[in-house]
Amino acid sequence: MASILFFLLLSVSFTASAQRQTNISLRSSLTPLTNSSWFSPSGLYAFGFYRQGNGYSIGVFLAGISLNTVVWSAKRDDPPVPTNATLLFSSDGRVVLQSAQGDETLIDSPSQPASLAAMSDSGNFMLYDSDGKIIWQSFDHPTDTLLPTQQLKAGAELVSSASETGHSTGFYRLKMQHDGHLVQYPVDTQDTAPYSYWASGTNGYGDNVTLNLDQDGHLYLLNATLFNIKNITVGGYPTKETINMMKLDADGIFRIYSKNLTRNGNWSAEWSSTEDKCDPKGSCGLNGYCVMNDLEAECRCLPQFAFVNQGNWTSGCERAFRAESCKDKNGSGAYTIEEVRFTDWEDVPYSTLSVTAKGDCEQACLEDCNCEAALFDDGKCRKQRLPLRFGRRNMGSTNFALVKVGKPISPMDRNEPIIEKKKPSRTIVIVSVSFVAFGLVMFAIFGIIIYRYHVLAYKRVPNNDGTGSNQEFAPRAFTFAELGNFTGGFKEEIGRGSFGTVYKGLIPSTQKVIAVKRLEKVLAEGEREFQNEMKVIGKTHHRNLVRLLGYCHDEHNRLLVYEYMSNGSLADILFSPEKRPCFIERLEIARNIARGIVYLHEECETQIIHCDIKPQNILIDKYRCPKVSDFGLAKLLKPDQTNTFTGIRGTRGYVAPEWHRNMPVTVKADVYSFGVMLLEITCCRKNVDYSLPEAEAILEVWVYQCFQDGGMDKLAGDEVADKRQFERMVKVGLWCTLDEPSLRPSMKKVLLMLEGTVEIPIPPSPNSFFTAI
Ligand SMILES: *[C@@H]1O[C@H](CO)[C@@H](O)[C@H](O)[C@H]1NC(C)=O
Ligand SMILES: *[C@@H]1O[C@H](CO)[C@@H](O)[C@H](O)[C@H]1NC(C)=O
Ligand SMILES: *[C@@H]1O[C@H](CO)[C@@H](O)[C@H](O)[C@H]1NC(C)=O
Ligand SMILES: *[C@@H]1O[C@H](CO)[C@@H](O)[C@H](O)[C@H]1NC(C)=O
Ligand SMILES: *[C@@H]1O[C@H](CO)[C@@H](O)[C@H](O)[C@H]1NC(C)=O
Ligand SMILES: *[C@@H]1O[C@H](CO)[C@@H](O)[C@H](O)[C@H]1NC(C)=O
Ligand SMILES: *[C@@H]1O[C@H](CO)[C@@H](O)[C@H](O)[C@H]1NC(C)=O
Ligand SMILES: *[C@@H]1O[C@H](CO)[C@@H](O)[C@H](O)[C@H]1NC(C)=O
Ligand SMILES: *[C@@H]1O[C@H](CO)[C@@H](O)[C@H](O)[C@H]1NC(C)=O
Ligand SMILES: *[C@@H]1O[C@H](CO)[C@@H](O)[C@H](O)[C@H]1NC(C)=O
Repeated sequence: MASILFFLLLSVSFTASAQRQTNISLRSSLTPLTNSSWFSPSGLYAFGFYRQGNGYSIGVFLAGISLNTVVWSAKRDDPPVPTNATLLFSSDGRVVLQSAQGDETLIDSPSQPASLAAMSDSGNFMLYDSDGKIIWQSFDHPTDTLLPTQQLKAGAELVSSASETGHSTGFYRLKMQHDGHLVQYPVDTQDTAPYSYWASGTNGYGDNVTLNLDQDGHLYLLNATLFNIKNITVGGYPTKETINMMKLDADGIFRIYSKNLTRNGNWSAEWSSTEDKCDPKGSCGLNGYCVMNDLEAECRCLPQFAFVNQGNWTSGCERAFRAESCKDKNGSGAYTIEEVRFTDWEDVPYSTLSVTAKGDCEQACLEDCNCEAALFDDGKCRKQRLPLRFGRRNMGSTNFALVKVGKPISPMDRNEPIIEKKKPSRTIVIVSVSFVAFGLVMFAIFGIIIYRYHVLAYKRVPNNDGTGSNQEFAPRAFTFAELGNFTGGFKEEIGRGSFGTVYKGLIPSTQKVIAVKRLEKVLAEGEREFQNEMKVIGKTHHRNLVRLLGYCHDEHNRLLVYEYMSNGSLADILFSPEKRPCFIERLEIARNIARGIVYLHEECETQIIHCDIKPQNILIDKYRCPKVSDFGLAKLLKPDQTNTFTGIRGTRGYVAPEWHRNMPVTVKADVYSFGVMLLEITCCRKNVDYSLPEAEAILEVWVYQCFQDGGMDKLAGDEVADKRQFERMVKVGLWCTLDEPSLRPSMKKVLLMLEGTVEIPIPPSPNSFFTAI
């Protein structure tokens, strides 16, 4: 076998340009254990199942060498599949992954059915149409690796893997931009200079510049007329019996790797985009900064901050002191400032002051409750909110990072998961407070027996309710098979949200059209919790809430069955010009959503904090009446770190600021999210839109600016006749989006304001704290 391989490998270098390929005909299939891949003619590359974790994933890998090196993965973020899955090149020309249950996932998405597939000796998996034209190839959809002869075309990017052994999406990307510039950014950032950490310097060379790699490791950029505009590496590495490739590593640095195919051994890095491992922005997570120590990067935390997760730097740092509510105290007493010198940070101030000395900047930050850190440099004091991002040591930096810190807390108090910080519902707090008070009185009068009785009575309350009279409203339990039937095998996907995928279905007996949501990230251990939540959700009844009709809960599957909403989501109608509702309708929509949330907060048996209010979660029924969906699910799901990663300060989206701080999350977090959405509904645009001029990009900031300058006409446009009503909506939105939760009105008050029954005071500046309602 070894010698055969050797010959095959020898032939690679001689025939690579001839693009030899193995043809795969329709109806061929692969399974993880037998016939697990389709090899290229030399046997060097293969397409098929590779081992990942305790299952299998699909991709292209180097099969001819001892180290199983994956160079491309299909659906890289999908979980690995068990051994009973099948990969099929179906008779209708699609490459699909079939689970044992019969679910199908499309591996690639060509525009038309293929009639032939092929695996080439260059490592490219291709699909051809009946005319022999390539309609899809893995080379056009790279993951983190570029192979010799593969091009990174304009608009495409490499995205690093999460770790050296995993292949799911990681933290960094290398983008071939349409302006001819090849640039590296962290994932989930804009393509703008402040986020870049490596660039080729070839901007202005026009569209269709490509990144190319030759067999000898020569990496270079060609312009649209194939003129070499820049050599990134000079190449010249051995090619005989050797393979050279380029990979964007998990640490955000891209490297040229070589391996002698005839010798066992590791890949050796011949070249790397930087020697400074602190270059990739954000390698230390939030509130951490990177320090080079003997060629190795090391992460440090801001003063009085501690690693969220010792041993995993990417999870960042969090406060190791208690963040008091700023409003409760006068001035600087509870906080002091600590400084970090010689560091660079992302510079996104919400306010910039001109000051003469560092001390003035410290004082300004201490006096401003919104200020959590400030960057002082050259007479400028730039006040920022946490988290600080992209920190790294830079001995040339003249910045002082001034961090507001307070009393230390013990590590024990710190590590509670954020969802647990949700305050117990107010009714329960009141109930338990009164029970305790009552109990104490009883204790004094009747002694310990009666006290005990009351504790028991209190404990019994939820049980009584659960089995009580509301039977007819209780959502039904379905089996997985039933739901499979209703949805025709989960065929028609109608949406994909943060919780899972939604399929359309029909209950044959009642002819009711349903939406079946398959939850993906549910906490595994949450059995009882799931049942309880179903009961809580099942008991909600309101015109402006989506009805839960049933659920399925077996060993592996958690599904929810809702009534079907034929008009999609609020985002669909609000942000598409042809469906956009008129101003009067938008006002009515806002009022109706507010009614739904008031019900969740104050009127249903158990208070429900939604935690994820946004236009995508407001569904529109056939009468164009809005209904809140996805409520009651927050408790069931793992807290999603990525949310806090992407929603940062100015662009924090719908997420209330207290989520980023060590502060309890209450109903006021929903008020904040509603406020952001209300401004969107009012102005008919997304809350962040970088295609607009900078001053207008962030809706809250722009709206406040217009409001303050009396420029409401700029916002309203010609379409809005009732300017007074428009201004009311704007004012409500500004009140709801204040940073300090206690200043935001309750949803009940919000509704009264929207209905016009109470006066709306002038909203304070988002940056000033002490103006109370
Ligand atoms: C594979 O298919 C292509 C296009 O149909 C053909 O030109 C080529 O000869 C085939 N190769 C093999 C090895 O069958
Ligand atoms: C594997 O595939 C080959 C040809 O593609 C076929 O002859 C063989 O029977 C298959 N083996 C199994 C176990 O399916
Ligand atoms: C497929 O394999 C998985 C995991 O080994 C198992 O849970 C599942 O029941 C299997 N499905 C069938 C239909 O055999
Ligand atoms: C870039 O390529 C596309 C597609 O091949 C072509 O339509 C476009 O005109 C090209 N642009 C330039 C500037 O050459
Ligand atoms: C590519 O670069 C060459 C040399 O600078 C230039 O002559 C040519 O016009 C460029 N092509 C395009 C499409 O810009
Ligand atoms: C890049 O290197 C090649 C040789 O590998 C050389 O011919 C070419 O002129 C270089 N191009 C630039 C832009 O330096
Ligand atoms: C690869 O390894 C073989 C065997 O050790 C050796 O003879 C050959 O010179 C090596 N090739 C290169 C390019 O280093
Ligand atoms: C290859 O690299 C791994 C990890 O870096 C190391 O443990 C292993 O010893 C290396 N193997 C060889 C043959 O150098
Ligand atoms: C480290 O933390 C990040 C973010 O919290 C997470 O995505 C990653 O999986 C963790 N890595 C390890 C090895 O635990
Ligand atoms: C807050 O103000 C009160 C009265 O104005 C004063 O007694 C107290 O010392 C102040 N506390 C701090 C921390 O400055």
